[in-house]
Amino acid sequence: MAGRLPAMALLSLLCIFLMFHGAAAISAGTRDGMQRWGYVTPRPKVNMFWWFFKSPNRVSSTCAPWPTILWLQGGPGGSATGRGNFLEIGPRDLNLDPRKFTWLRIADIIFVDSPVGVGFSYADDPSALVKTDSQAVADLVGVIKVLLKKLPTLRSGPFFLVGESYGGKMAAMVGVQLSRAIRNGTITNLMLGGVVIGDGWISPEDFSFSYAQLLHAVSRLNDNAVEDVNKMAVTVKEQMMAGQLAAAQKTWTDQLDLIDSRSDSVARVGYLQNMDNFLLDTGMNPVLENTKSLKSSQLMYRNSQRSHIAPKDIDDLVNKVIKPWLKIIPKSLVWQEATLAVYEELADYFMKPAINEVDELLAAGVNVTVYNGQLDVICPTIGVEAWVSKLKWDGLSHFLSLPRRPLHYCDSAIYCSKQIRAYVRSYKNFAFYWILQAGHMVPVDQPYPAFRMIASATQSPGNTSS
Ligand SMILES: *[C@@H]1O[C@H](CO)[C@@H](O)[C@H](O)[C@H]1NC(C)=O
Ligand SMILES: *[C@@H]1O[C@H](CO)[C@@H](O)[C@H](O)[C@H]1NC(C)=O
Repeated sequence: MAGRLPAMALLSLLCIFLMFHGAAAISAGTRDGMQRWGYVTPRPKVNMFWWFFKSPNRVSSTCAPWPTILWLQGGPGGSATGRGNFLEIGPRDLNLDPRKFTWLRIADIIFVDSPVGVGFSYADDPSALVKTDSQAVADLVGVIKVLLKKLPTLRSGPFFLVGESYGGKMAAMVGVQLSRAIRNGTITNLMLGGVVIGDGWISPEDFSFSYAQLLHAVSRLNDNAVEDVNKMAVTVKEQMMAGQLAAAQKTWTDQLDLIDSRSDSVARVGYLQNMDNFLLDTGMNPVLENTKSLKSSQLMYRNSQRSHIAPKDIDDLVNKVIKPWLKIIPKSLVWQEATLAVYEELADYFMKPAINEVDELLAAGVNVTVYNGQLDVICPTIGVEAWVSKLKWDGLSHFLSLPRRPLHYCDSAIYCSKQIRAYVRSYKNFAFYWILQAGHMVPVDQPYPAFRMIASATQSPGNTSS
């Protein structure tokens, strides 16, 4: 751990101030103003932790204001301040080395541990954990309202909700509430720049119907198993139509178990047992620079029995180095990368789709960007295309008729090749990015294309040259 401390000093000046605002809110920050963090209490017994990073690369003008991104992790139960920050898009990686393609280069970033009970966010007693998506959304809107007062930069540029996996569903739902509140005048000082949904858990039914087709087409599923896997999707659909969402979640879990056995364990890397990438097998040490990040890079989780095989690295970093450094975290709180209790409390809502929310955003003129990793299994691109085709948005048929534009992101010798890194199609306020050679966690697998995609989605005036 000692070896990490000099690097920690780089994370920012080791000079922290604390601010107390009665019992309801406490915050702290670095003297240079580049980081702030704190707790907000949007309702009794609920302590939501947020961590703001101001970009050192800010350039801003009236016609191109600097954006702020609020990043929401999946699960439900994954911690944004740990996972999103240190494994995906924050300024430092797990070794506290600078991350080359941190999204901080093109935006300010706020990580919020949500729902309550996740990461550094905690409930004073378990009864305050959220049991509905709407409660999780209301808590987040409460946090955003407080941050609008605390962070002047949030009021001066466009605000983007970016969510991965279950966080994508949350981003769409929070976006709906913010957009309504802006229209009815209850929020006046926020410019909602857009909602960005990364490998988002928007339509579980469409995903359930996609698994066999995808995995069979890429030789990962035994051809004998296709029919059985599809039968379970039919059951999922029937249960959802009957309003039995918890039963549908159970069937979906059984469906993944069946796929697991009939694919000889596709992509079951990591203790969260997600099916992240159909090119990977369980226990495989994937070909990524940072193997630590891959081991712990799984998102939605489903298999509680296995969670005791948690990787040590991010737990150690966050509990032993970050937590004491932040000063304001209760001593008794043990940070977890993902919190099973939060996932279980939402069992009645986990399978609920959010297609209508995306439609409401589109109809309200909010910019919506969807991006998806080509190799993702759990939220497969063909399933995303399936839910997109169900949108009632009046631009849909024209959108679907348009060609896709190949993106080489070719602006330096190092990253330049004939290789296509992604495709994009956009029309009016909707854009869809197909990110090639990426699994469920796109910024982990393809940091540079992910960085370029988010710079475009946020129309950042920041410099994206590699
Ligand atoms: C405005 O919209 C927000 C978000 O949906 C809602 O919570 C609030 O009650 C609305 N207020 C009024 C005055 O309509
Ligand atoms: C939405 O995206 C379009 C480009 O696709 C852009 O012209 C417009 O300014 C964006 N709107 C907001 C609110 O950012």
